This record gives sequence, structure tokens and C-alpha cells, in this order.
Amino acid sequence: MDFLEIANTRQACRSYDPTREIEREKLEKVLEAARLAPSACNAQPYFITVCTGEKKELVAETTRGVGMNGFTKDVPVIFVISEKPEKKGVLGTLVPIDSYMALDMGIAAAYITAEATTQGLSSCIIGWFDDEKIRTVCGNEGRTRLVIALGYAKEGDPLRKKVRKTIDELVKEV
Ligand SMILES: Cc1cc2nc3c(=O)[nH]c(=O)nc-3n(C[C@H](O)[C@H](O)[C@H](O)COP(=O)(O)O)c2cc1C
Repeated sequence: MDFLEIANTRQACRSYDPTREIEREKLEKVLEAARLAPSACNAQPYFITVCTGEKKELVAETTRGVGMNGFTKDVPVIFVISEKPEKKGVLGTLVPIDSYMALDMGIAAAYITAEATTQGLSSCIIGWFDDEKIRTVCGNEGRTRLVIALGYAKEGDPLRKKVRKTIDELVKEV
């Protein structure tokens, strides 16, 4: 798969096969992609908690407030991306490096979901969750900033056409 194939194939999956676990080697490749993601000053100011089994159920439950994210009941693995502030690098002495934290996490999420796609896995980045409950379940100190659902899509789950701004709406050349 070249990168545009990955970008066109990755989609927010909201229909998972609850009978299919993720193979260990695939999970490790996805985590390796996260490890290789770039970040400001190379600080990687985040931490990934891989949730399976009962912990996954408890984290998944927190994503389902006000009728959201019902699909998480069928997801075998959830990554919790939480803050882990780092003071590092020259830039860190000039600007508060943590102000790049959310950007760094977004890049890591992009790497995670892209590698998941190359492994034949489906994913959904989730921004609706209960930070405090997740911290308690995972024993994390850092604030939860993103949750990523990972698993195999249910058979027949269709690949949707991408709805995006046009290049003209998004880009100008000067
Ligand atoms: C930061 C972030 C938070 C998101 N939160 C949710 C969510 O809580 N539930 C959900 O179903 N999708 C969520 N999404 C998925 C987006 O709705 C989806 O990526 C977007 O509509 C584009 O569709 P596509 O990913 O299928 O191409 C989130 C995506 C991002 C990047």
C-alpha cells in the first residue's frame, strides 16, 4: 500500500467484529509506528496505555455517554493516549514545549491508525470519553487526551467515500 492508499482506506470504523482478537505481532507493529512518530524536540510527551479484557470494557464504557460510540462494546483493544509532560531540547528553554503536546499526540494517532490500516485492522480515534474514570481504571496520572479503538471491522462493513474540503478550500499557493 502506498500512503494515499492507506489514507483512502483508513476510516473511522464504527462496526467491529467482537469475535476477532488482534494478533500480538500486529499490535506490536502498531505500537512501533507510534514509537517512531515525530514530535516537537523529539520529546514524545505522551504515554500509551493498551487496554484489553476487563480494563478495555471499563474504558470503553466511558466513551458511550449520551448515546455516543456504541460500537466500542465490540472493540477488542483500546489505546488510551495520555499526557506525559517532558522538558527536553533547546526549544523547551524558549517556549513551553508542552504547547505542542496536542499536535504531537495527533501525529502519533495518525501513525497508529495508518499502521493499523496496513495491518488490515480498523480503528476509530475517539474524543468523547470520561478522563477521570479512565485515569482511575488505568492508574494513569496524566490527563487522557485521546482514545483509539482498534479491531477488525465486521464483515461487509463498507469503505465509505471520503468527504473532505476541496484542495482549493484547503490550500493556496503564493
Ligand atoms: C480528535 C478526533 C476525535 C474523534 N472523536 C470521535 C468520536 O468520539 N466518535 C466517533 O465515532 N468518531 C470520532 N472521530 C472520527 C471522525 O468523526 C472522523 O475521523 C471524520 O469524520 C472523518 O471520517 P473518516 O475518519 O472515516 O475518514 C474523531 C476523530 C478525531 C481526529
